[in-house]
Amino acid sequence: MKRILPVIVLGLLGSAVASFAADGASIWGDNCAKCHGPTGKGDTTIGKKLKISDLSSADVQAQFTDERAFSAVKDGYTDKDGRMRMKPVEGLSDDDIKAVVAHLRTLKQ
Ligand code: HEC
Repeated sequence: MKRILPVIVLGLLGSAVASFAADGASIWGDNCAKCHGPTGKGDTTIGKKLKISDLSSADVQAQFTDERAFSAVKDGYTDKDGRMRMKPVEGLSDDDIKAVVAHLRTLKQ
């Protein structure tokens, strides 16, 4: 136990620092929810206008990898007809994007 405890304490500290640096849920709320909705369903005014698919659906989530979600946020998302459907989201670091993609995965129902 004496040996395990410091490891646990360090682990907790580490995750507290990580969540401070890049909190996926708040990044989602600040940068994604206005289009994709707080739960990813896309049921916002903008979301309906843009006909955004339901990102909380397991089927939809199975259609993209984490890497593709990352590039959708970083470089924008272009559909198969070459139209830009989602512009790059400005002002996020790579760590922020990874955190928000991880958060997006938790919205899957
Ligand atoms: C201005 C509105 C808007 C904002 C803001 C926005 N998106 Fe999107 N997003 C879209 C649209 C439109 C699409 C493509 C339509 C669809 O869902 O089929 C899309 C598609 C996606 C996809 C699917 C990509 C794929 O390959 O199928 C992911 C993942 C995604 N967005 C994540 C995010 C994340 C994470 C954020 C916040 C960092 C974000 N979006 C912010 C409008 C937006």
